[in-house]
Amino acid sequence: MLRGNLMRVRKAVIPAAGLGTRFLPATKAQPKEMLPLIDRPIIQYIVEEVVTSGIEDILIITGRGKRAIEDHFDCCLELESYLREKGKEEWLRVVRQIAQMANIHYVRQCEPKGLGHAVLCAQSFVGNEPFAVLLGDDVIAGDKPCLAQMIDLFMEVQASVVAVERVPREDVSKYGIISGEEIRPRVFAVHDLVEKPQPEEAPSRWGVTGRYIITPRIFGLLAETPPGAGGEIQLTDALRRLAKEEQVFAYAFSGKRYDAGDKLGYLKATVELALEREDLGAAFLEYLRNLLAERS
Ligand code: G1P
Repeated sequence: MLRGNLMRVRKAVIPAAGLGTRFLPATKAQPKEMLPLIDRPIIQYIVEEVVTSGIEDILIITGRGKRAIEDHFDCCLELESYLREKGKEEWLRVVRQIAQMANIHYVRQCEPKGLGHAVLCAQSFVGNEPFAVLLGDDVIAGDKPCLAQMIDLFMEVQASVVAVERVPREDVSKYGIISGEEIRPRVFAVHDLVEKPQPEEAPSRWGVTGRYIITPRIFGLLAETPPGAGGEIQLTDALRRLAKEEQVFAYAFSGKRYDAGDKLGYLKATVELALEREDLGAAFLEYLRNLLAERS
């Protein structure tokens, strides 16, 4: 096939309509996606992953009470002129860069009917081409963005790719779990997927992480998918049917994933990302060392 005929991934969808009940009361009046990891809201890490993976068109699926997300990625003229007047050029650059990072579009999911339903809301934005889906709860740190790794595989296989990582047996019921054949290191041909199985029913310990590249056939399948686990329309159930019609691959990405939608996962992400920061890492490590010495 000529290189020019290859399908490319040009669009990304970030579902952000969830209510954030795991983080109440912090999420009573603000979106969970806006909780900060150090000094950037979680969703900014996700948008940065998309942009550094070479995608500029992003659709964020929002809902009631999520206006702060739009404000964050919008320009803010009052703040910009205040910073300019005060000569705070570095902050001005930071603030403006957020608004210029990508072309961000929004659509509202008016009923919380599940991840599959949220992705279906992206149909007219995506059209008839492959697209990426990134879930805001999963923050992934590493040298090369997880999505960029998946795009490399997509360009080779020209088929849907889901990110996976090995999860403890007692945690399989928190994830979509794949069954498949490892066709080369890190790459699986997916035979089946099951959403949140009990440990005794799980076909493997490879759990789906919140990164997907999906062909547009998924929309027709999502439209026919009945509610599944938790009474919600599950993306995993539609992917299961997709895997029966087309090849679907799973990719064991390199990088460290944090479940930033969970309190302990959020704390781990905060601590570890802070330790990596040039401006904070050394002082924070010293603080942690002293704290541990005091407590042991
Ligand atoms: C969603 C998906 C699940 C996937 C998980 C990854 O579940 O439904 O298949 O494994 O994200 O984070 P949620 O965590 O939204 O319940």
